[in-house]
Amino acid sequence: MKGIVLSGGRGTRLYPATKAVSKQLIPLYDKPMVYYPLATLMQMGIREILVVTTPEDEERYRHLLSDGTRWGINISYCRQPKPEGIAQALLLGQDFIKDSAVALILGDNFIHGEGLFQSLARARAFSTGAINFAYRVSDPQRYGIIEFDAEGRPQRLVEKPAKPKSNWAVIGLYVYDQRASDYAADLKPSARGELEITDLNQRYLDLGQLRVEKLGPGNAWLDTGTHDSWLEACHYVQTIFHRQGQMIGCPEEVAYRNNFISAAQLDKLAHEMRASTYGQYLKALLA
Ligand code: G1P
Repeated sequence: MKGIVLSGGRGTRLYPATKAVSKQLIPLYDKPMVYYPLATLMQMGIREILVVTTPEDEERYRHLLSDGTRWGINISYCRQPKPEGIAQALLLGQDFIKDSAVALILGDNFIHGEGLFQSLARARAFSTGAINFAYRVSDPQRYGIIEFDAEGRPQRLVEKPAKPKSNWAVIGLYVYDQRASDYAADLKPSARGELEITDLNQRYLDLGQLRVEKLGPGNAWLDTGTHDSWLEACHYVQTIFHRQGQMIGCPEEVAYRNNFISAAQLDKLAHEMRASTYGQYLKALLA
């Protein structure tokens, strides 16, 4: 399975904080936002990752992440000239995906919690169709939502409904089989001028090939789309770190635990950042 991180968009809801720098490059507490989705893909065992950026920001992403070697993965880059929808990433990434299954994650998505690892491992093991992850929220009108029938089977997907019939939002992590790019090519832009990921998911649902993994209340899916939700996410990461001594979204740690890199490689990374608590945390992983 390959992975795509979509880090396009202008981040206008966070202006002026994101006027001069891509939203997914600003920090969430101690590390750039894009580290979190990258760490999630790496947790799934994915080592081939395409980062989709705006043309203006590509150089900065390259500067931050380079080719991924130091994390034992392979990172390549592709530009999205205009923010024309999440599903467009599957078209832009068509040559990268080739005949693989693909996990597509939004560059500002933050998920953490109990049982998540098992859900991600199940997703990694799938072969046909698509998987969506659903999370219960109090403000479903802000998201794509899933309606379920009385037996709990997914019925319908609706993008940002004015009067939602379900509280289950679709989070920004999607897993697809090798047909995703072809199906994305059939999509027509929505009223907001975007190729909607919800329409692609609906296609898999219509085929009876969409599986939905509900993430229970022991999981956190945090939004970083407004100034307040961004700050809340920062506090969440800080709180877990202070209380448990556990970092969230640390690609170096995932790389080390998944044996993508050796102890000696981790030690080198820790040494480069020894002046920060981040570097000291990496060093402590080796103790
Ligand atoms: C997008 C998707 C929506 C999904 C959300 C998750 O919303 O269109 O279905 O629930 O990401 O973050 P947007 O970022 O366009 O508001």
